[in-house]
Amino acid sequence: MVSSDRTSAPRDARAGDEDRRSFFSTATAVIVGGIVSVFPFAAGLLVLFDPLRRQGSAGGFLRIASLDELPADGVPRSFPVITDRVDAWNKFVNEPVGMVFLRRTKEGVAQVEALNAVCPHAGCFVDFLSKESHFQCPCHDSSFEPNGTRIHPERCPSPRDLDALAVEIRMVEGREEVWVEFKNFRAGTPEKIADA
Ligand code: FES
Repeated sequence: MVSSDRTSAPRDARAGDEDRRSFFSTATAVIVGGIVSVFPFAAGLLVLFDPLRRQGSAGGFLRIASLDELPADGVPRSFPVITDRVDAWNKFVNEPVGMVFLRRTKEGVAQVEALNAVCPHAGCFVDFLSKESHFQCPCHDSSFEPNGTRIHPERCPSPRDLDALAVEIRMVEGREEVWVEFKNFRAGTPEKIADA
């Protein structure tokens, strides 16, 4: 009797080991199989919804106005930004995608400054008040100098100055044109971070 009990205990232990090995093999097969089946599915979804990730970017230089449309006295003037827009699976031709203010920085010279008209606080469009000679945001009263710097930055809701944009003056068919590298930037941050 005693010897029989002694041999059955190791046999039970071996059976337990085999059960555990079998359980781990099965679990590993299920996990690997799950990963293999999920990844092609996720990749398929990315391909299917890829057009949604390419919405309405207006990067690159765009023609905004001819130089002679800008007042000689340096007062900013607003212009719509018109370009083709890709939205999900559709393409829209000549759509307004934003607004910029242009101003001459030197009288009689082809030197122009461009500012995105969107307030960096929460994304409203600013106005230029010619009587007060500054930009004013109608939403929470941020105000900016004609060159885009904040007036009273310590109490201005906007966390940064208006966003300046790169400008090129190009000669097209004998006329000087103002081209702007149009970008939108993230609202509510002190840093100027371009939208993707
Ligand atoms: S959005 Fe311009 S001050 Fe708030």
